[in-house]
Amino acid sequence: MTLLLYTAGSDRTIWLDALKHSFPEARIDDWPSARADETDYALVWKPPADLLRALRRAKAIFNLGAGVDAVPDAAVLAREVRLVRLEDAGMAEQMAEYVVHAVLHCYREFDAYVEQQRRGEWLPRPRLAKSDFVVGILGLGVLGRAVAAALAPFKFPLRGWSRTPKRLAGVETSHGLAALDSFLSGVRLLVCLLPSTSQTRGLLDRARLSRLPRGAYLVNVSRGALVVDDDLLALLEDAHLAGAMLDVFHDEPLPATHRFWHHPRVTLTPHVSAVTLIEESVAQIAAKIRRLEAGLPIGGIVRHEHGY
Ligand SMILES: NC(=O)c1ccc[n+]([C@@H]2O[C@H](COP(=O)([O-])OP(=O)(O)OC[C@H]3O[C@@H](n4cnc5c(N)ncnc54)[C@H](OP(=O)(O)O)[C@@H]3O)[C@@H](O)[C@H]2O)c1
Repeated sequence: MTLLLYTAGSDRTIWLDALKHSFPEARIDDWPSARADETDYALVWKPPADLLRALRRAKAIFNLGAGVDAVPDAAVLAREVRLVRLEDAGMAEQMAEYVVHAVLHCYREFDAYVEQQRRGEWLPRPRLAKSDFVVGILGLGVLGRAVAAALAPFKFPLRGWSRTPKRLAGVETSHGLAALDSFLSGVRLLVCLLPSTSQTRGLLDRARLSRLPRGAYLVNVSRGALVVDDDLLALLEDAHLAGAMLDVFHDEPLPATHRFWHHPRVTLTPHVSAVTLIEESVAQIAAKIRRLEAGLPIGGIVRHEHGY
């Protein structure tokens, strides 16, 4: 078996060691490689277009992340080649930790208590009604469902929105663009877990974010491209939105001059909400390769027509 590993320069040695451990018999090529057109399976992160063109005969290309927006578009990637994304592989637990933290932080008004402490104020705040603190999750895929499950014990009213209909115990679900405005109205904390596709980029603009009630929060843990930054800043500045917790940005690292850095209502983290775990990822990919070699179906195949 021949494998090709391209990690855009990050952690190559660790990936290589994990791969050698799972496939001791395989030849593992690097890129550029004269032999890419002989590759059976490629593992890639942020692959250049030339590499994808060279992989037209591969049995599958595994993306080393859950989102495939860094893979050049379908025009480059031959439609007959399977592109496979990571499904959870240790990311769901991390995402659940991050979002549960964000929800509890906002609901229990920890920012207000930090300010009170700075002012030396001992002032218990009235408890917010939980039944009014609706948490809305955009995207009910692997990660959105894990987040909903992690929030369930806290008994917030949960809403979820997806492209196709979904049934999820304890979550009021809706789907499709036509239902989005009514989904957003009444949501006190919006979690964005949608992939970045031609359908979702710029989805959270001023009009959509204004559907959230005054005092709502945004938590974006999927991709920066989903949000129109200037619209978000305008709504934070006129206090329509109480705050935003952002892990992902249009440009990463976030440019030093970006207004998010020092905005008092923005908390930001450097794209760490759920990182790819090498051991778990290689184990998942190895299991899928074994299934493909045995002629069995696998999950996580990207549908070119939907872009995720
Ligand atoms: N910040 C980080 O560290 C980090 C880490 C991992 C992943 N991510 C991001 O998280 C995203 C979600 O990951 P996942 O594994 O949960 O993906 P997934 O399993 O593919 O789920 C995607 C969800 O989004 C929905 N969706 C897609 N396009 C839509 C549209 N146009 N309208 C409405 N709903 C739409 C899908 O609807 P259906 O259910 O109907 O298909 C599905 O529920 C990734 O694409 C990636 O960008 C970020």
